[in-house]
Amino acid sequence: MMQKRLEELKERQQKALLGGGRDRIDAQHKKKKLTARERLELLLDPGSFEELDMLVTHRTSDFGMADQVYFGDGVVTGYGKISGRLVYVFSQDFTVFGGSLSETHAEKICKIMDLALRNGAPVIGLNDSGGARIQEGVRSLGGYADIFYRNARASGVIPQISAIMGPCAGGAVYSPAMTDFILMVEQSSYMFVTGPNVVKTVTNEEVSSEDLGGASVHSSKSGVTHFTASDDVDCIKKLRTLLSYLPQNCEEKAPALPYSQDGSEMLHGISDLIPESANQPYDIKEVIRAVVDPGSFFEIHEQYAENIVIGFSRLAGKVTGIVANQPMVLAGCLDVSSSKKAARFVRFCDCFNIPLLVFEDVPGFLPGTDQEWNAIITNGAKLLYAFSEASVPRITVITRKAYGGAYDVMNSKHIGADFNFAWPSAEIAVMGAKGASEIIFKKEIESSADPSRTMSEKEAEYAEKFANPYIAASRGFIDEVIHPDETRRKLIRAFATLENKVDNLPRRKHGNIPL
Ligand code: HXC
Repeated sequence: MMQKRLEELKERQQKALLGGGRDRIDAQHKKKKLTARERLELLLDPGSFEELDMLVTHRTSDFGMADQVYFGDGVVTGYGKISGRLVYVFSQDFTVFGGSLSETHAEKICKIMDLALRNGAPVIGLNDSGGARIQEGVRSLGGYADIFYRNARASGVIPQISAIMGPCAGGAVYSPAMTDFILMVEQSSYMFVTGPNVVKTVTNEEVSSEDLGGASVHSSKSGVTHFTASDDVDCIKKLRTLLSYLPQNCEEKAPALPYSQDGSEMLHGISDLIPESANQPYDIKEVIRAVVDPGSFFEIHEQYAENIVIGFSRLAGKVTGIVANQPMVLAGCLDVSSSKKAARFVRFCDCFNIPLLVFEDVPGFLPGTDQEWNAIITNGAKLLYAFSEASVPRITVITRKAYGGAYDVMNSKHIGADFNFAWPSAEIAVMGAKGASEIIFKKEIESSADPSRTMSEKEAEYAEKFANPYIAASRGFIDEVIHPDETRRKLIRAFATLENKVDNLPRRKHGNIPL
């Protein structure tokens, strides 16, 4: 009797493992895509996956659906480990009704989201779906909303990560959009709210899926995705790396690596990176890479709003979030996109107890009608708000320019930074010497017999007085002017003092960030 039962179970399990069947699996492979199960196998530590709801089936009978029943109903769900740490996962199976989302498919995802929230572990979704299960109508829409609701409830409590490894269209995009990080696979994935056909009907634009919402568009133009990957394997590799920088939940710290002091922690020749002329660019990523633990910088949003650089790194083994102006792009100005990019990252780090390290070289906000009409006021305020509100350890290093309102915004002492260091090359002032002289010495320059000479004299006078870190240091706005070679050592020591930092925000329901 038992033997027969065991065989029956095995038969069901084997059917489930085949998803929509061999032909559809072959079709998936032909598109250079792995199956839902193959992806999970790569993602999770070997042998660690425990599947839930393998035998769930849909409950629809309309449109001949009663005859088309597949175990698992188009999504593989469960839990497993990544580098020994618990994660909850769902992986949509395109071989079953195109991975489309039915009521039961949604219930499976909601079940693991509830478990993840209750047990304090990240949720990872591998998305590959034709959207709402058309045969189910509004029940499918309800299923999406059940997931969206949980995304919002889990936000800031557990990390939520979405890999887009196939279609993701219509309202379905809003679950990934509410998660903390999105990864997209080049050429085989796309995301859009309305697809090329509707776009053509409504706006008469002809555009391919790839050009409308492919990985390269969303990594460079819209900033919707944080990472792109060349294929499924690369995507999963990046996902695992990303996880290594994150804590399990908002009550924990990110996992630290063992650290033994590397010599004196002094750097050598880092000041050579700063050009003689203040108008010449240099690559702030070289500074970041020199200061943090070797090989630890993991950049996020690499191709989007490149005038600001963000990413995770390790400093003395401990995870640290980096925000840095990039003088190579738009001279490192803050603009709408860079402010939004950095603000969201600052808030992520603050949610999950990741200390923030800021490298500052900012000439100000980018001028122009485009910026003003696209609300640089509101968007710049996002970054200001995000830093001001962040209660994690925060340190700023001013490498060169710190001008105007951008000086305040970029994690200044005034908005709660714990330590602010400046290199001797720092220039901390209301604006650059040229602009400043044109305004305050206007009359003298105009009435001078040699206006251009007077202008350069006045400019030099202003620069001499203000294009340095010493006025700020004399007021305590800068804690210390340091030799660039000391940067790593100073940061390691300063962050160590902030290990037990407590900074309680006023009691309130929640703040009202200028969204
Ligand atoms: C049911 C679906 C489906 C869906 C695909 N399939 N999408 N079944 N509901 N939404 C099925 C197909 O019938 C087919 O079944 C199999 O999945 C594979 O689909 P193909 O079309 O053969 O694959 P491909 O050529 O790769 O095209 C993939 C696709 C296309 C681009 C995703 O299938 C497509 O356009 N599907 C419809 C997408 C859509 O309009 N969805 C609803 C959007 S509205 P067989 O049996 O042949 O294998 C939405 C709103 C969400 O999602 C709202 C949330 C609030």
